[in-house]
Parts: sequence; structure tokens; C-alpha cells
Amino acid sequence: MLAVVAKGTDPAEPLGGLYVGEWPEAAVRGEWTTVTVHAASLNHHDLWTLRGVGPGTRRVPVVLGSDAAGVDEDGNEVIIHPVVGDPAAGGGDETLDPGRTLFGEEHDGTCAQRVAVPVRNLVPKPPGLSFEEAACLPGAWLTAYRMLFRKAALRPGDTVLVQGAGGGVSTALITLGAAAGFRVWVTGRSEERRESALRIGAHDVFSAGARLPARVDAVMETVGEATWAHSLRSLRPGGRVVVSGGDNRNHAAGRPGPYLLPAVDDRRIHPGHTRRPTGTLPVLRRAPAVSGHRPGAAAGTGPEWLPSAAER
Ligand SMILES: NC(=O)c1ccc[n+]([C@@H]2O[C@H](COP(=O)([O-])OP(=O)(O)OC[C@H]3O[C@@H](n4cnc5c(N)ncnc54)[C@H](OP(=O)(O)O)[C@@H]3O)[C@@H](O)[C@H]2O)c1
Repeated sequence: MLAVVAKGTDPAEPLGGLYVGEWPEAAVRGEWTTVTVHAASLNHHDLWTLRGVGPGTRRVPVVLGSDAAGVDEDGNEVIIHPVVGDPAAGGGDETLDPGRTLFGEEHDGTCAQRVAVPVRNLVPKPPGLSFEEAACLPGAWLTAYRMLFRKAALRPGDTVLVQGAGGGVSTALITLGAAAGFRVWVTGRSEERRESALRIGAHDVFSAGARLPARVDAVMETVGEATWAHSLRSLRPGGRVVVSGGDNRNHAAGRPGPYLLPAVDDRRIHPGHTRRPTGTLPVLRRAPAVSGHRPGAAAGTGPEWLPSAAER
């Protein structure tokens, strides 16, 4: 089959290890099955692997890609949930399983014509989404969903600051946050990306580190050291910082964070990983179908798909 593979890694020349060509299919075992991939999305995780950073490097050569949509062996259109883990080992949450991995780490990834996946990782694809749109949902959009609706405890009308205008998770945060009726403020390093944030639903944009007109109810932090102090300065007392990652500090050295969280006063920090067990995907998949929102499309309104109290 045709596959996109990290054959080697190099912090300085990451594309030097990239191979696109014939590759053997992974064997299917136990409760696993094969999905014919129709679309896979690029995640920064794949670039980190090529740079020699993170768990993707444990098993090089490895097929890249953690997110995809395709067709299962029975002909059903499916989205592939990217986390391979044991819920029992994570106290009911597979993302907390110390042994959990993403596709493209211990197991070959989704940038291939076919990928072997656990049956439990398959979620029906909403018919209203294209395969390309559906392939964007698993990592970045599910992370954004959990940050906004499970961790931040925001209500319509609240103000949320998204640090970073053009990132994968940021894009999803802006779109979902605007659709949910939050006032979305965004910082970005370039005019072009700030304008793009406005197009997908941001209510106001600011240059990185700029003083905001008011303190916000929650900050979505996916950047790292470069924005951390600003995140804390911008937060109202009792507000929440939700952290899904922080890689920027060591980009130059070819290494991601983690960086140390400074002491905080009465503001609340909500760290913890934001990828979700398979059970959340059916919740997220309602969003584009009901609200007209699509990964990559302009924002509107659609409070119908806000999680119910039971789902929060
Ligand atoms: N993507 C996923 O599926 C996923 C899932 C769970 C957790 N995460 C974690 O979330 C974090 C972000 O992931 P991502 O995929 O969204 O990454 P990404 O697409 O590379 O986005 C990085 C973001 O960081 C901003 N940024 C980087 N360096 C900066 C600096 N020096 N100053 C200000 N802003 C800076 C960028 O801002 P500009 O827009 O201005 O360039 C951009 O918004 C990572 O730690 C990742 O591990 C990602």
C-alpha cells in the first residue's frame, strides 16, 4: 500500500526522513480491524516525530498520522479516534492510561491507504461531513471541545481568550467557542493569522502579549512559555486557564516543553490531557451537523449542540 512514513528523524532537516511510497500493511489481531483511509489530517505531532521528538520516535520507521476518516470492513463511513489505551488502566479514562499511545507512535499511523485500528476506536462519520472535514475532528477539535466545554465551565456570554491564532487547536477553539455564544478574543503573532481568526468567528484579535480591554473568564493555553505570563495577567480572579500543551519554548532546540507552571494565586489551572475517550466523539460529531459549522468553514451560531448537563 501507499504510505507516508518517518524513516528517520533529524531536528534540523525533518523532511529528510520523510518517505512516501510502498509500505507493508500492519497485521490485524484480536479486536482490531482495518480501515480504508479516505482522508487523513496533518497534525503537528507528525512534524515532531520527523524532528526526533516525542513518543512517535520510539518505533521509527513508523507510518505517520494520528487522525483520519475512512470506510470500515463492512462499508461503514467512520472516523478513527486517535487514542489507543485501556480505560481500566486510566481509572475509566483511556487518556489517563500511562501506556496510552496515538496512532503514529507504537502503532502505524493513518497516513496510508489502510490502517489497523481497535474496533472500539471507530465512530460513525456524520453523513453531512466530507471525509476531509471528518478527518480534522479527532485530535485538535476533540481537544478544543473538551477544553471549552468540560474544563473551562464557560457559559454563553463569557469571554474566553485563545492564545495563538493559527494553530490547529486554536482554530477549533475559535470556531467552537464562537458557535457556543462565548465572546472569543484571540492573540496572534501575524496580521494575516489574526484576520483569519476574525473570519472564523473571533470577536476581537490582539497582537501577542497585548493588554486586553478587560480580564477574561477563561484562557485556552496551547502555546507555552511565550504566552504563559500574559495568560495569567489576562485572567479574572477565579477564572480558569486550560492547558492542552505548551511546546514553543524549545522549538529552536528541536525539543518541546513541558515548562514549569509558575505559582498562581486564586486563579485556577486546569492541566491534563485533552484528548478524549471514544465516548466523546459522538457528542462532538453533532456540532458541525447541527450548527452548520465545519472544520475550516466560517462561524455562525448553533447553541443546540452545546453539551447537556449530563455530558459535561
Ligand atoms: N493538535 C492536536 O491534535 C492536539 C491535541 C492535544 C494536545 N495538543 C497540544 O496542543 C499544543 C498545540 O498544538 P497544535 O497542534 O495546535 O500546534 P500548532 O498547530 O503548531 O499551533 C501552535 C500555536 O502556538 C502559537 N505559537 C507558537 N509559538 C509561539 C510564540 N513564540 N509566541 C506566540 N504564539 C506562539 C502559534 O501561534 P500563531 O498562530 O501566531 O502562529 C499557534 O497558534 C501542543 O502542545 C500539542 O501537543 C494538540
